[in-house]
Amino acid sequence: RLEKPGASRYNLQRMNGAPPGISEGFTLDQRPVGLLDSGLGGISVLGEALRQLPNEDYVYYGDTANAPYGDKTPEEVLGLVHQAVERLIELRCKAIVIACNTATSVSAGKLRQELALPIIGMEPALKPASLLPGEGKILVMATRVTLALPKFQALMAQYGRDAVPVPCPGLMECVERGELEGPQVTALLRQLLGPWLSQPVKAVVLGCTHYPFLRKAIAALFPEGTPLIDGNAGSVRQLRRRLEEQDLLSDRQEPGRITFLSSSEDPSVLQRMQTMLELCANESESARAGEKEVRS
Ligand code: DGL
Repeated sequence: RLEKPGASRYNLQRMNGAPPGISEGFTLDQRPVGLLDSGLGGISVLGEALRQLPNEDYVYYGDTANAPYGDKTPEEVLGLVHQAVERLIELRCKAIVIACNTATSVSAGKLRQELALPIIGMEPALKPASLLPGEGKILVMATRVTLALPKFQALMAQYGRDAVPVPCPGLMECVERGELEGPQVTALLRQLLGPWLSQPVKAVVLGCTHYPFLRKAIAALFPEGTPLIDGNAGSVRQLRRRLEEQDLLSDRQEPGRITFLSSSEDPSVLQRMQTMLELCANESESARAGEKEVRS
């Protein structure tokens, strides 16, 4: 069960600070799992990881200084992901979760060729959405880069009969600012989703790890009960499988530690990471309390 994270569970570190104790004294299976994202979005994946694998240690790297990834060229994103992965490997991560759809689309294939450790990526949850009953379009909200790259094109070819790609520039910035609802967020969502709001929609795919934080604001624009599907649970199940296969699961019996790293010089970013994670803990409590939710 996901405990509400307590302050003692956290290490807050900037990119170049060495988290105390992380590089020494680990048995193999107690090395941390590394997660990376352009900023705060991957915290939604970390929240799910804590729910499914609470006893692992985690190092979360947010590349806030270089966000957003979704408006960069694939080459630029690849360079940034390489830097982040290098840092996570220095910190002895036993597996890496690319907790960002954009970074996954650009780098997962290459990283798997280059590295021996498990690399787990994200993909817009179009497959589970396409299997839902009902009529109407499936809106796939994601960054421009994610939607333009071959990985998504392949997904569209297989499961995209009713799907409409909806690029969402500007949306991750709302999350980075901590603006998760309110008139400005709603106005931007209306602008991005405009033509589809008056038509039958079967499901909305949250194809960027920032968007689960906007779940309430997005849901409010569609008829009640419209499923909003993210890929977080599926990716974390995949992480578990990969750790199990390679005998890398921690055998610790108590909650692990979480270390936050940021490429930003602004110390408040680390604090915000912690706040966002606490938000995930609260949300999954309310989901357990009976909220209907479809997840991949
Ligand atoms: N969180 C990232 C994703 O899942 C993207 C946000 C960005 O544009 O940096 O795609």
